[in-house]
Amino acid sequence: MRRQLPRWSELRPLLRSERLPLDATQRRLARAHTVADLRAIAARRLPRAVFDYTDGAAEQEISLRRARRSFDRVEFHPAVLRDVSTADTSTTVLGQRWPLPFGLAPTGFTRLMHHEGERAAARAAQRAGIMYALSTMGTTSIEQVAAEAPQARKWFQLYVWRNRDAAKDLIERARAAGYEALILTADTPVAGARMRDVRNGLTIPPALTPSTVLDAARCPGWWFNLLTTEPMTFANLRGWHGTVAELVNEMFDPSVTFADIEWLRAAWPGPLLIKGIHTVADARAAVDHGADAIVVSTHGGRQLDRAVAPLEVLPAIADAVGDRAEILLDTGIMHGGDVVAALALGARGCLVGRAFLYGLMAGGEQGVQRAIAILAAEITRTLRLLGVSGVGELNRSHVSLR
Ligand SMILES: Cc1cc2nc3c(=O)[nH]c(=O)nc-3n(C[C@H](O)[C@H](O)[C@H](O)COP(=O)(O)O)c2cc1C
Repeated sequence: MRRQLPRWSELRPLLRSERLPLDATQRRLARAHTVADLRAIAARRLPRAVFDYTDGAAEQEISLRRARRSFDRVEFHPAVLRDVSTADTSTTVLGQRWPLPFGLAPTGFTRLMHHEGERAAARAAQRAGIMYALSTMGTTSIEQVAAEAPQARKWFQLYVWRNRDAAKDLIERARAAGYEALILTADTPVAGARMRDVRNGLTIPPALTPSTVLDAARCPGWWFNLLTTEPMTFANLRGWHGTVAELVNEMFDPSVTFADIEWLRAAWPGPLLIKGIHTVADARAAVDHGADAIVVSTHGGRQLDRAVAPLEVLPAIADAVGDRAEILLDTGIMHGGDVVAALALGARGCLVGRAFLYGLMAGGEQGVQRAIAILAAEITRTLRLLGVSGVGELNRSHVSLR
């Protein structure tokens, strides 16, 4: 073939200046097209120990890998030639309409990931109209989060303390501040062994040791924000200095049983969820003891290692209690397609933990917004490609596990 030099008139239409946002955070986030991209930005920007605290799981991290692999096992079975000019992503959870079929899971120490922590996440949730769950281990108080995001749909996650009066006090405060539902996390009788935290020597608040000071040189912005904003304490409990595992083992009551749920029911008049259900038997027990909903969850793989993959036990749990209680699912969700698969197999909605935390680490409130937008776009696209015009049309015929 004969070659020729390209002419200017041919080149000119191909030239396009890349319009990058002026704001550095927006510029960074504009390059993130998936939750995995947000994770990669977070890994570059945060101190190693903080990134590992978020990204890591317990022991050999088998539970987390297993949960993520279960989503790789998903095989979608679309129906073609259906009218999918619109796709309704809304679902109903505990009588409330959720515009997107996921909410933000309760996560502790969120101001470690970004100095605005819980406030930033709650504001992003408010803007998207999705649920934000505040953890007992939150680093912003129940009242501050409520004041920051008054219109957000807020739930409060409870760990049962050895001191029941302290737990009751938290429940009262959550009710007074307008939180709509209470999540009892049931899979944390003792702390999981997060080996990355042990190796990194992570403490709350982070201690200034020679290695953290060295690390500070790599991410000065994070340290500057940590040291120049209000000191990191547990806003919902008294101050603490030590490791996460020490805190959990000192404060949490390992003798809590299903019988205690009756105590909780009396203390909390609103909807009650039990999170951390792994088996059909426990799903039945939770519902028999008065839970309105359960969260099939292995705590992001951060508690018991070698646990089941929530997605794989979901259909049996849905068969057993789906007519008496609502079912949510979490652990391992990195893509909107993961959420769609869980809905097709019997969940009302999902919770995402790391997916929003990677966004928070990558760019604060805007990063959480970005994570929500990425998941929302993936959900919408997956629904349409599956040939359904709304979440309500999903059923088991759409998914099998390879
Ligand atoms: C950094 C981090 C902190 C967490 N803290 C809590 C907590 O305080 N209470 C709780 O019930 N679950 C906690 N979880 C578990 C989440 O609520 C949720 O079950 C989990 O993150 C879901 O898995 P995913 O991160 O893969 O989405 C935490 C998870 C992470 C990643």
